[in-house]
Amino acid sequence: MEEIVVGIDVGTTKVCTLVGRVEDDKSIRILGVGIEPSEGIRKGIVVDLEAASRAIKRSVEKAESTSSLEITTAFVSLAGAHVSSVNSRGAAGIPGGIIDFHDMARALEQAQAIAIPHDREIIHVIQRGITVDGQEGVKTPVGMHGYKLEVETHIITAASATVDNIRQCVSAAGVDIQQFVLNPLASAEVVLTEQERQMGVAVCDIGGGTTDLAIYVDGDVWHTMVLAVGGNHITQDIAHGLRLSLSQAEEVKKQQGHAIRSDIGSEEYFLIRPFGEVKDIRLNRQDLAMVIEARVEETFNLILQEIKRSGYDGLLPAGMVLTGGTSALPGISRVASEVLGMPVRTGQPQDLKGLVDKLNSPMYSTSFGLLQWAISMHDHQVAVSGGGKRRSKRPGEKNAGFDTVKNWMKRLLP
Ligand SMILES: Nc1ncnc2c1ncn2[C@@H]1O[C@H](COP(=O)(O)OP(=O)(O)OP(=O)(O)O)[C@@H](O)[C@H]1O
Ligand SMILES: [Mg+2]
Repeated sequence: MEEIVVGIDVGTTKVCTLVGRVEDDKSIRILGVGIEPSEGIRKGIVVDLEAASRAIKRSVEKAESTSSLEITTAFVSLAGAHVSSVNSRGAAGIPGGIIDFHDMARALEQAQAIAIPHDREIIHVIQRGITVDGQEGVKTPVGMHGYKLEVETHIITAASATVDNIRQCVSAAGVDIQQFVLNPLASAEVVLTEQERQMGVAVCDIGGGTTDLAIYVDGDVWHTMVLAVGGNHITQDIAHGLRLSLSQAEEVKKQQGHAIRSDIGSEEYFLIRPFGEVKDIRLNRQDLAMVIEARVEETFNLILQEIKRSGYDGLLPAGMVLTGGTSALPGISRVASEVLGMPVRTGQPQDLKGLVDKLNSPMYSTSFGLLQWAISMHDHQVAVSGGGKRRSKRPGEKNAGFDTVKNWMKRLLP
C-alpha cells in the first residue's frame, strides 16, 4: 500500500503544501506541490484570518490537483515570537527492575507536569538526555536494568490563541492538523547530518518574517528559539536606504544583493526604474551591500546573544547550518561565521525525487522537513484519500518496528 505524507509550511512569504510518497528506501517522492504567496500572516502569526485561510486553501488545492489526491490531514509548521521553550526533568521508579516503554512514558509525563499558563499549550515534548540510576548519557533505556529512570526534556509551548488561529485557517481548507512542528525542527530534518547533531550544531532558518533557531547537542534538541526578524527587514532597509518601493527593493535584493560590502567593487552599478518614472536610474551595488551588511550583522548579533543566553555557546563544534530563503543571499554565511566565531555553512533539500522542479532551494527546507518529520513519526492516521483507489495510510501503520517506536518516544506528542 502507498504511504503518503503531507506537510503545509505556513510561512510569512509563502504557503507551501507538499504531498510525498514514502519509497521503500524511506526516501520521499514528491507527488503534489502547492506554492502560493502568503496573505494575512506576519512574522509567523495570523493577522487576517480570511486572507490566511484563502492562501492556505489555494496552496492545498494546488497540491491536490497536482497529486490527484485529496488532502485530509497534514503536518503543519509553526513559528513566531509567541513560541517559547523550557527544559524540564521527569523521573520514574522502576518496580520490575527492567525499564519498559511505560516507564519511559511515566517519566516523560512527569516532565510535563510543569506550570504552564492557561493561555499557552504544549507543542512538543522532546527527550534530550536519559539517566538510569545516576548514570547519564543512556541512549536506549528500554530493556535495561535499573531502579530509577530520569529523562531530561525540552518542552516547547505556544500561545493557544495564535495556534487556534492557524488551526482555524487550515481547517477552513478542509485539512485536520496531524501535528504542529516547530519550524527549525522541521528544517533540521533536512539540512543537518547525524554527525553534526552528535558533535553539537545550531540550525538557523532565516525566512521572510522569522529567524528560527534550534541547538542540537549529543544528537538531541537542547534549545529552540524564534526571533521576529527575517529577510523582509532587509527588504525594508533597502527600500528606505535606496528610496525604492518594497517590491523593487525585494527584486534588487535577490538580483544584486550581497552581504559583504568589501566583496563588491566601488564601480559596480545596476539599473532600475523607480515606480512612476519613465527613465532608469543607476544605483551603486556597494551602497546596496552596505545596507544589507548592516542588517545581516545585526541579525547575527541578536542570534549570538540568544545562543549565549542559552548557555550552549561552547558546545557547538559543528557550528551553524543556515537555511531558509534569506540564506540564499551571497556572503551571508561568511558574515555569520565572523559574528558568531564558528564555522557556518548553508543547507537545502537535496537528492529530491518527483515533482521537484522549483523545490531545490533553502526556501523549502521546512516544507521537506515536515515530510521527513512525518515519516519518522509513529502516528499512523490516514493522511490522504483520493477517488477511492489511492487512499493511503501513514507509513509504518503495520508492523511498526522498534525504531519507529523509539522515534516516537523521542518526539512524544503532548
Ligand atoms: N536570492 C535571495 N537573496 C536574498 N534573499 C532571498 C533570496 N531568495 C529569497 N530570499 C528571501 O527569503 C525570504 C523568504 O524565505 P522563506 O520562503 O524561507 O520564508 P517564509 O518561510 O515564507 O517565512 P518565515 O519562515 O519567516 O515565516 C524573503 O524575505 C526573500 O526575500
Ligand atoms: Mg519559513
